[in-house]
Amino acid sequence: MCATFPLTMAIYQVRFINADQGLDQTLAIPEDVYILDAAQEHHIPLPSACRQGDCSVCLARLLKGDVDQQEQAFLSSTEIDQGYTVTCVAYPRSDCVLETHQEQKLYEGSLYKKFRT
Ligand code: FES
Repeated sequence: MCATFPLTMAIYQVRFINADQGLDQTLAIPEDVYILDAAQEHHIPLPSACRQGDCSVCLARLLKGDVDQQEQAFLSSTEIDQGYTVTCVAYPRSDCVLETHQEQKLYEGSLYKKFRT
């Protein structure tokens, strides 16, 4: 005899904001869909490049909520603790608020910028 279990999938409300970009839009995103994929499917103009978690183009900053971005290979643990999120390989794990277009912000706060100026 084979037991059957109901298929349940969590769906979270993910809000994308960026004042400079005039962006404030919320999407319902299933737990098994990458945040960047969902945004781009709904024509939210977020930057992207490698789409594998290896660069910094798609960075956002998590202001509220939780994500699973175990596949990313770019950020340090400190940067993750600061909320930086690699959206191309991040799944929502709760309702979230993400400030988008954060690649330059990451570099502005880094040693690279301090040595260049
Ligand atoms: S697009 Fe390169 S890490 Fe997301």
